[in-house]
Amino acid sequence: SNPSLLILPGDGIGPEVMAEVRRIIDWFGAKRDLAFDVSEDLVGGAAYDAHGTPLHDDTMARAQEADAVLLGAVGGPKYDDLDFSVKPERGLLRLRKEMDLFSNLRPAQCFDALADFSSLKRDVVSGLDIMIVRELTSGSYFGEPRGIFEENGERVGINTQRYTTSEIRRVARSAFELARRRGNKVCSMEKANVMESGILWREEVTWVHQNEYPDVELSHMYADAGAMQLCRWPKQFDVILTDNLFGDLLSDTAAMLTGSLGMLPSASLGAPMENGRPKALYEPVHGSAPDIAGQGKANPIACVLSFAMALRYSFDQGAEADRLEQAVERTLAAGARTGDLMGPEGGTPLSTSEMGDAILK
Ligand code: NAI
Ligand code: MG
Repeated sequence: SNPSLLILPGDGIGPEVMAEVRRIIDWFGAKRDLAFDVSEDLVGGAAYDAHGTPLHDDTMARAQEADAVLLGAVGGPKYDDLDFSVKPERGLLRLRKEMDLFSNLRPAQCFDALADFSSLKRDVVSGLDIMIVRELTSGSYFGEPRGIFEENGERVGINTQRYTTSEIRRVARSAFELARRRGNKVCSMEKANVMESGILWREEVTWVHQNEYPDVELSHMYADAGAMQLCRWPKQFDVILTDNLFGDLLSDTAAMLTGSLGMLPSASLGAPMENGRPKALYEPVHGSAPDIAGQGKANPIACVLSFAMALRYSFDQGAEADRLEQAVERTLAAGARTGDLMGPEGGTPLSTSEMGDAILK
């Protein structure tokens, strides 16, 4: 049977960009003999409107069984005043948590045609292709104790940076595996100079390297120096491995090296399922963009490139992923631009579906 793909378009521009991805998925079925069993369901505000919850239990169960999940975006002003427990974002958080997606992959890739959009000089970013692997389910966003407490007559806000050996080793393995399929280099970033969790991180990453991946080149860097190096000479990196908090900052920094939010894909991977595929959720980095939703202005490329990541990391179709990424690259090189990819000089932007047409062509 065909591999299964659960599609959760979500809110705002989510369904608009996903419609273009659906056409591309159909193209692979028709032209490349690569068919998927695609099913669609609700998440976020759309699920709340239908069921009173941002992720129905049935949808959660389908996500657990799918070979991969592809999500558009969730949220919007309509839902801003909802109780925290049913906010659209909770649907996404539940997916990540229950699928135990501990490894967040954020590529920062700079297509030559867009190099002038970078916040850095063209020669620093053109051809850039790095991957940030961020631990996603532990660390200071989850560690206990946490909360706001009374202490000596004033309030104290507490978060705990906490990592176990197994949490570090599993995300390190994920980074080393990726590196073997890319430039064979991992740079691990923490603050072992001032943090206990950083010392453990460095020791455990080194252990995994020595015992399981001695063929991959490993280096270590303090995360603050890493941030500086990312902006100074990002092409020195291949895979960057880091924790949840530092990864949040470093991946947003790296993202801006490459230009528009409308270009950035991501993947979140968990442990292998019985069929050997990792549990996986693919999604663009951007949100539901309420300011342009419903107007056909959204750039579908981030979502298209997220599907390319699914081809590569869930379905072992690296050559087909390359084909899709090259189609995007050629489309941009030929001058196709949605509004977010246009400079102040202006011009007439393509609509979401016209960009889909251009990529398909
Ligand atoms: P956003 O990413 O939705 O939009 C930021 C800016 O980038 C806007 O000006 C938007 O028009 C533009 N933009 C984003 N994606 C684009 C695309 N594909 N093509 C063209 N322009 C694009 O972030 P914002 O405005 O902070 O959040 C809006 C809503 O999305 C909120 O409800 C927020 O909670 C939610 N959100 C959801 C995320 C998710 O589903 N993973 C991630 C980030 C925000
Ligand atoms: Mg962030």
